Formats: sequence, C-alpha cells, structure tokens
Amino acid sequence: MTNLAVIGGDGIGPEVVAEGLKVLNAVLPGVETTDYDLGARRYHATGEVLPDSVQNELAGHDAILLGAVGDPGVPPGVLERGLLLKLRFAFDHYVNLRPARLYEGVTSPLAGVKPGDIDFVVVREGTEGLYVGAGGVLAKGTPREVATEESLNSRSGVERVIRDAFSRAQSRPRRHLTLVHKQNVLVNAGNLWSRTFTEVGKEFPDVVTEYQHVDAASMFFVTQPQRFDVVVTDNLFGDILTDIAAAISGGIGLAASGNINPTKEYPSMFEPVHGSAPDITGKGIADPTATILSVALLLDHLGHTDEADKVEAAVADDLAAREPGAGVRTSEVGDRIAARVS
Ligand code: NAI
Ligand code: MG
Repeated sequence: MTNLAVIGGDGIGPEVVAEGLKVLNAVLPGVETTDYDLGARRYHATGEVLPDSVQNELAGHDAILLGAVGDPGVPPGVLERGLLLKLRFAFDHYVNLRPARLYEGVTSPLAGVKPGDIDFVVVREGTEGLYVGAGGVLAKGTPREVATEESLNSRSGVERVIRDAFSRAQSRPRRHLTLVHKQNVLVNAGNLWSRTFTEVGKEFPDVVTEYQHVDAASMFFVTQPQRFDVVVTDNLFGDILTDIAAAISGGIGLAASGNINPTKEYPSMFEPVHGSAPDITGKGIADPTATILSVALLLDHLGHTDEADKVEAAVADDLAAREPGAGVRTSEVGDRIAARVS
C-alpha cells in the first residue's frame, strides 16, 4: 500500500494536483493520500510555514506530491526557504530530476526543432552549492554593506549525484552524460566536480561522457538540444538550465520535476516546475500536464515503472490529439488522461 502526502498549496496548485491524483487513482487504484495544508494560505492565517510536527508526519510517507506554493502577499524567500528548500535539505533530496522532452503536437519556440529532437534529463544537485544558505551580511543598509553567499561542495555530495546521473545514463538508449560546470573560473569546486566525474565514470565504461562550461551549455540547449541525453550539474546551474529546458520543450505547463532521495530513507517530493499562477487561479484553465508527468516520475521512483510508462504514453497521446491553439480545461485534461490509463 502506497501512502502519499499531498500538498496542494496555493493558487492553481490544488487544481492541478486534483488532476494528478485523478490519473494516479486510475493507473494505480488504492493509493492512500493525506492532505497537508501548507503554503501562503496557512502562512497568512497562522504565521506558520512548516511546523516540526508536520515535517515529522511528512517523513513517514512514501512520497509527497506538491502543487505550488506562494502568492504575491508573501515576502520572497519565506516559503521557498522555509518550506521547499527546508524539505529538500531535511529529506536529503540530492537528485533534482527534470526531464525535457518535446512531444508530438507541441511546438518548440526553436525553429526547425521537431518532436524527438529534444529528449534529455537534467540531474541537478539538490542539497549543496550556493543554496545551502552559507553566507551573511555586514553593515546592512549602509554604503559599506557586504553580502556573501558561499557555494559548498562536498566530495561525498558531488560523488553521489554524479553516480546517480551515470546510472540514469546507463539505463537510457544513448548512454551519454554531460557534466556542466564552470571549471575554468570556479576552479575549486569545478576541479572537485571534474575529478569526481572522471573517477566515477570508470565504474560506467559504457557511458559516453562530455564536459561543457555552463555558458556553452546554455547556448547548446538552444542551438543544438539534440546533443543532450543526461546532464549532471550543480544546484544553481541546474536551476537556470532547467528553465531553458522547459522553455524549449513546450513551456511551463509541461515541465515536471522530482526532488529525489534515491536511498528512500526519506520521502521524495514530486512537483510541477511552475508556481501558483495567481493570474489564472480559479478559472479552470491551468494545464495539469506538468503535474501528471510529475506523477509519472513519482510512480517510477516507487518502482511502478509500467504504470509510469503508461502515464507518460497517455500524456504523449493526449498532447498529440490536442487541437492546436485551443485552450486547456484543467479537469478535461485530467479526465482524458485518466481514461487513457485505466
Ligand atoms: P508561475 O509559474 O506561477 O506563473 C508564470 C506564468 O505561467 C503565469 O502567466 C501563469 O499563468 C503561467 N502558468 C504557470 N503554470 C501554468 C499552468 N499549469 N498552465 C498554464 N499556465 C501556467 O510563476 P510566477 O508568476 O513567477 O509566480 C507566482 C507565484 O508562484 C509566486 O508566489 C512564486 O513565488 C510562486 N512559485 C512557486 C513555485 C513552487 O511552488 N515550486 C515555483 C515558482 C514560483
Ligand atoms: Mg527555478
């Protein structure tokens, strides 16, 4: 019995999560779910972001499905650091997995790029780098103000995410892995990443490897996305690159992600890349596809690979059948995909 924690969150979050659950129930009946009220609404009502008791309860689940959190009334950083990043660190989500695929029926903003040309996955490190909150501020508000943000990279942290990326590359037909960093300038961290990459690579002799600086990779994501199969990179570079990846493969309504702890010591958390979209909340026009694809990642992580493949195939069929230019009705997309998988 799978035990799923559900955080619908704010704005369109609950709308898209409802469709994700619809599809989950259709493909794998009997999943038990518990709803958690977290996000801007709770913050405004009680001042709480993530009480320890809730964090402990979440830890007892097999996985977490999250919609989105945030609204314009919450100061920047409160929910990002206090909820999303806190869970990523507390549950050691060291693999931030973000697939990019251009489906049939979806138009890329890149001229001349066809479905099939984009099919790669970015493995972004999720627990270290510039996101650990190492830094401080001195003489704030004065002309002498100094602010620092340090990037922390541990050998063990780098090694585990690189090993995960190699093994994902090994299981894909092309068996190709690109390390992205900036080792010519960020010489300390860059050297640690590239040495570790070379050493771990010896365990995977059948995986073809490549290295690119992050600026070059940004260019190639746009000019030659066909080059990529699996990409492994640090936390900040991965954050930025995956927005490019989402943009070239059909946009925010389709981009899925997993915050994964491959050891399964703590639950992994799956969520669409997009936010709470206050501009379209309540209109019933949010595209739930990113959430449904996140459910596919969730199923795959829990070992339900057939079900995961079914959901992905149903999404592909649904996208191919959509009328070009016609708008999306949130619940109709969920109904159609649920019908295809059941
Ligand atoms: P956003 O992703 O919510 O919206 C950006 C644009 O994309 C908007 O025009 C929106 O209508 C559209 N959009 C987003 N998801 C869509 C969907 N499924 N279907 C159709 N259109 C969609 O980003 P924005 O506006 O910068 O942030 C809004 C709020 O969300 C903020 O409070 C922000 O902090 C929060 N946020 C939360 C995230 C999370 O929970 N992981 C991630 C990004 C932002
Ligand atoms: Mg981002």
